[in-house]
Amino acid sequence: MRAAVLYGHGELDQLVVEDDFADPVVGAGQVIIAVHASSLNYHDLFTVRGMPGIKVPMPAIPGLDIAGEIIEIGPGVSGWSIGDRVLVDPLDKTRGLMGELLHGGLAERCLVGEEQLIRIPEGVGYAQAAALPVAYGTAHRMLFTNGSLGAGQRVLILGASGGVGTCCVMLAKMVGAEVIACASSAEKLERLRQLGADRTIDYTKERFVKQIHAWYGKPARRAYEGGVDMVINYTGGDTWTDSMRCLKRGGQLITCGATAGFDPKTDLRYIWSFELKILGSNSWAREDLEELLRLVAEGKIDPAIDRVLPLRDVHEGLRLLADRRVFGKVIIAPDRR
Ligand SMILES: NC(=O)c1ccc[n+]([C@@H]2O[C@H](COP(=O)([O-])OP(=O)(O)OC[C@H]3O[C@@H](n4cnc5c(N)ncnc54)[C@H](OP(=O)(O)O)[C@@H]3O)[C@@H](O)[C@H]2O)c1
Repeated sequence: MRAAVLYGHGELDQLVVEDDFADPVVGAGQVIIAVHASSLNYHDLFTVRGMPGIKVPMPAIPGLDIAGEIIEIGPGVSGWSIGDRVLVDPLDKTRGLMGELLHGGLAERCLVGEEQLIRIPEGVGYAQAAALPVAYGTAHRMLFTNGSLGAGQRVLILGASGGVGTCCVMLAKMVGAEVIACASSAEKLERLRQLGADRTIDYTKERFVKQIHAWYGKPARRAYEGGVDMVINYTGGDTWTDSMRCLKRGGQLITCGATAGFDPKTDLRYIWSFELKILGSNSWAREDLEELLRLVAEGKIDPAIDRVLPLRDVHEGLRLLADRRVFGKVIIAPDRR
């Protein structure tokens, strides 16, 4: 089968698109899917470059998010038929993560455990479904399971133009929050406003903390005034302490990653003086994915898709992510020539 295969860590040229990678062989409790759409995540760049603490078995096929059609069913699988349209929960609880420890979606076919299958509702396309698990599932859990965003609250979203970010914007608007979105170009800011952001900041041109203080006032130490209620920050690096300075007393600072650096300078004075809640959030639960599919089917959210590329152009897609030129999700369609 055609697949994008990684033989060792390094730059993007370590990923090779081949036409004759061995087809998967179905086992008990498993199915084989013809992959119609697989979305790229920043995680795929970490997989290509190598992440400390994670040993990726080589050769590896990246691609965590997978949507497609069942083409083969192994012994013992019940309730599923050839031709069923399915979204894959990327996390196999015993075997690990698709596209990292297990062969992922950047291939024409993919082997999946029965318990990972989620039916795609009518009206939801393969590309829309494939946009959801990693980025949208994580955004949903951050805002509503670990965080507690609600109507009328102010949320500042850094990296708002990316996969996780665009979903945070949509979900926050959906529940009636006021959204302040940060991105690195005028074009991205315009698109974020179209997506529903109330206010936008180009944080490469001005310090976002200054702008937050100008709009909402400096957070008060002994009152619940000024600043924002929540900051979504998976950027890390030099954005971390400024994020604390934006939060009103009792505000929530939530992280699920560290695109720009995992060991930022911090300032404990803000945490105790303003009684800040620093929250971590990791991955998604099955309910997040089912709820997101329902929201898409009902037209309540529509995943922001930057473009759909054939598998042979996977390097172009990953380069867009590495160079911060993406708005929303890049989808790879392995069946597209
Ligand atoms: N823990 C989990 O379960 C989990 C799940 C999903 C994602 N994550 C993490 O969340 C982060 C975002 O993932 P994603 O897939 O949404 O990525 P993405 O689509 O590439 O979006 C990331 C955004 O961050 C901004 N950014 C700021 N500084 C950056 C830098 N130094 N390098 C690259 N981008 C930078 C970029 O927007 P601007 O150029 O506009 O600033 C970019 O659009 C990643 O760190 C990822 O590992 C974690």
